[in-house]
Formats: sequence, C-alpha cells, structure tokens
Amino acid sequence: MGSGAKRRVGIAALTGVALGVLAGGAVHAADRAAVTGVVMPEGYREWVAVAPSHRTDKGHIRMMLANPKMVNAYRAGTLPFPDGSVIAKLVYEAVKSPTWDGAVVPGEPVIIEFMVKDSARFPQNKGWGFGRFAPDGTPRGDEALYQTCFPCHQAQVSDTDYIFTHWAP
Ligand code: HEC
Repeated sequence: MGSGAKRRVGIAALTGVALGVLAGGAVHAADRAAVTGVVMPEGYREWVAVAPSHRTDKGHIRMMLANPKMVNAYRAGTLPFPDGSVIAKLVYEAVKSPTWDGAVVPGEPVIIEFMVKDSARFPQNKGWGFGRFAPDGTPRGDEALYQTCFPCHQAQVSDTDYIFTHWAP
C-alpha cells in the first residue's frame, strides 16, 4: 500500500470515529427521554424553590423547584399554569444531620420528577407531561407506571391545576 492509500485509509478511519461519536450522541439524547417524551430539562437546578416537603411515610425530603414561567404564575396566583411551565421534584433520603442534633437534612438523592405544561403535546392529562429520572438523568418508569401519575394528581388537586405544592412565602 502506497503512502497516499495509507493516508486515505487513515482519514476514512478518523471520519468513521467522528461519525460514530455523532451517532452515539444522538442515540444518547434519545435515551434521556422518558417513555412519555419528557426529557430532563437543562439547568433545572438553577430554578427557584417553590416549597419543600417532608414525606414521613417514605422517609424523604422533597424540594420543589419551578422554572421562571411557572414561578411568575405562582406569584401572580395564575391558574391554570401557562404552557411552558415546568416544576421539578427532587427527592432525597431524609437523614439526621451529622453536625446538628435534631436537624433532618437531605441525604442521598433518590429520584427526580418533572411536570411539563404543554397543552398541544399532552391533551390527555389536561396539558401536563410527566417524567421520572434517576439522579444521573437516566429515565425511569414504563408505560404502566406513567398511567398512575395523572390520576393521582387529578383525584387530589384538580382545583390547583393538578399541582400539589403551594408557594411557600
Ligand atoms: C399516589 C399519588 C401520586 C402519584 C401516583 C404520583 N404523584 Fe406526583 N405527587 C404526589 C404528591 C402527594 C405530591 C406532593 C409533593 C410530595 O411528594 O410531597 C406530588 C408532587 C409531584 C410533583 C411536584 C408538583 C406538585 O404537584 O406538587 C411532580 C413533578 C410529580 N409529583 C410528578 C409525578 C410523576 C412523574 C408521577 C408518575 C411517575 C407522579 N407524580 C405520580 C402524589 C402522586
């Protein structure tokens, strides 16, 4: 094989690697979507706290954060929440503080859930799309699990647009 041919083989191999990386990236992005199509939103950890919740039955501390659109609606008392609203529920083990007796603090992260308001995409749930993810962003839950989300929210809190959490002043 002449040096020209070698170079061409080399370039072909490099191109193959580059394409492989691109294809891998694309597959990876699709992998991040829950079966409902809801994807873990970028930057959710920068959102504003709506309120915490302490589930004594499960031994969890939950922290609800909302994106700016939803925070504005909360503050203005706007119901139903407008399209583009997103609320996150970050679930942690509730553990005794190692540094202060009597304080219960977030331990290991357990799960992260989202509700995304998009009336065109999720008309079956009055506009809400549901997503559940491991703390590393891996989607969790099958169709059967997602069948349970809206009915529980609907049964309990239909008068607050299916959202449990109230704004903590
Ligand atoms: C059996 C009832 C029930 C089911 C089923 C349920 N939830 Fe909830 N959800 C709650 C309660 C109660 C809260 C209030 C906050 C808390 O967990 O302490 C809540 C809160 C939330 C919140 C924060 C917004 C809010 O309403 O306060 C999100 C996001 C959420 N759930 C997502 C989901 C997803 C995703 C599923 C399905 C995989 C799901 N939920 C299934 C009861 C339920």
